[in-house]
Amino acid sequence: MAKHSVGWVASQKRWLLAFLVMLSVSTLIAFFIRAAFDSCDRPLDVVAKSPTRVPSGLLVGAGPNPLNFMKSKLVLLVSHELSLSGGPLLLMELAFLLRSVGAEVCWITIQRPSDTDGVIYSLEHKMLDRGVQVSYAKGQGAVDITLKADMVVLNTAVSGKWLDVVLKEHVPHVLPKVLWWIHEMRGHYFKLDYVKHLPLVAGAMIDSHVTAEYWENRTRERLRIKMPQTYVVHLGNSKELMEVAEDSVAKRVLREHVRESLGVRSDDLVFAIINSVSRGKGQDLFLRSFYESLQLIKEKKLQVPTMHAVIVGSDMTAQTKFELELRNFVMLKKIQDHVHFVNKTLTVAPYLASIDVLVQNSQARGECFGRITIEAMAFQLPVLGTAAGGTTEIVVNGTTGLLHPAGKEGVTPLAKNIVKLATHVERRLTMGKRGYERVKERFLEHHMADRIATVLNAVLRRAKSHSDS
Ligand SMILES: *[C@@H]1O[C@H](CO)[C@@H](O)[C@H](O)[C@H]1NC(C)=O
Ligand SMILES: *[C@@H]1O[C@H](CO)[C@@H](O)[C@H](O)[C@H]1NC(C)=O
Ligand SMILES: *[C@@H]1O[C@H](CO)[C@@H](O)[C@H](O)[C@H]1NC(C)=O
Repeated sequence: MAKHSVGWVASQKRWLLAFLVMLSVSTLIAFFIRAAFDSCDRPLDVVAKSPTRVPSGLLVGAGPNPLNFMKSKLVLLVSHELSLSGGPLLLMELAFLLRSVGAEVCWITIQRPSDTDGVIYSLEHKMLDRGVQVSYAKGQGAVDITLKADMVVLNTAVSGKWLDVVLKEHVPHVLPKVLWWIHEMRGHYFKLDYVKHLPLVAGAMIDSHVTAEYWENRTRERLRIKMPQTYVVHLGNSKELMEVAEDSVAKRVLREHVRESLGVRSDDLVFAIINSVSRGKGQDLFLRSFYESLQLIKEKKLQVPTMHAVIVGSDMTAQTKFELELRNFVMLKKIQDHVHFVNKTLTVAPYLASIDVLVQNSQARGECFGRITIEAMAFQLPVLGTAAGGTTEIVVNGTTGLLHPAGKEGVTPLAKNIVKLATHVERRLTMGKRGYERVKERFLEHHMADRIATVLNAVLRRAKSHSDS
């Protein structure tokens, strides 16, 4: 291999660093494992600041911004926590979308982890910088702003408790202007404690059809309550992510850099899961499939490049037992040279730039939506996913990826799909391109803004008709 001059390498590294710094936090999905979730409900310190205008036109390609009608409206966003996990990040994106059209936006965090880390600090400041008021979780201040707001967006099911605890006798006045954004689909959220006010809010917004149907079923059958008007809003990729995904020079630099750090050669074939490591995300079953695919290739004497499995999202301190189980499996099967663990990270773009196939192996009911799936497709990666949850609404089986069943019965099908993509280069690349086209057609920020605009419009109208009557 040709050796680059030291100077060139140094300048390339500098450039890369600058590049990574440039990427804004909101685009970089984190694997902030919610260890601190239930530990503390200290309200946020008061950081009052009058809203300042941010330049509009931060988003949305052609045409007038679909959210323009929100100008000067006061919107209160209520988040169960402030962290880099999916829910809060999405709400933050909504905050910035609304600010960009001149809405007044106020943000309330219900609880935050006990140890104030740099992440929360930087998120708060990022919001303040962009004119989002970060405010009290409790007390009269919270009640006043809630009563004054044109609309309240309650994020995630667990935030439901905030209504009674903070608003008390005001709850009935507030419900008709509440939009409830739900991202969960685990059983323990179906508690009246959390969601008893659902039937009376102005609307519910849910990330996928299958999750909306599931909520419909469970609320009716378990809780005997009726869902309000429900809107399905698929998510979209941020502009920043799309910029990296469409910049071939950036991608090449990131790819070389990450592959070098993993000890993977440029023509090796990399299959990766990018998700916090836990049984629900199916890293264990993926490793079994990966091992099985290596066996198949050996048995059939297939000619394929050296194959690697990369697991991004590792955290030895959080899921220690499960993490050890994964490593033991790797040792036992002697595939250490083929399997790489990467710690949870703020930045997924470098990994998406450096892998060849994304594996989305979430188990049981799958992902509510699964944002990493559309992010990978933006990078022209085919997706091998479980036929569950939001994945089935994103991946077109046989066209932009291949689906396999969740659970143990999916291990062999996934192994076969891995072999298929390893042996059919042309098909793999075509699937990646089709995935990218699909993203361009329906999973961009402006698509999401369009969809959200429809919902906000309807909620405003309902709130208004209620206050008029
Ligand atoms: C909802 O219930 C119907 C009928 O009981 C069932 O066919 C459907 O699969 C359920 N959907 C979900 C997502 O649970
Ligand atoms: C990954 O995290 C573990 C602790 O969880 C730490 O000991 C290790 O140094 C980290 N690895 C890298 C490459 O940062
Ligand atoms: C996906 O397509 C393959 C054929 O391309 C088919 O065998 C498989 O059953 C399909 N899976 C799902 C979940 O539709």
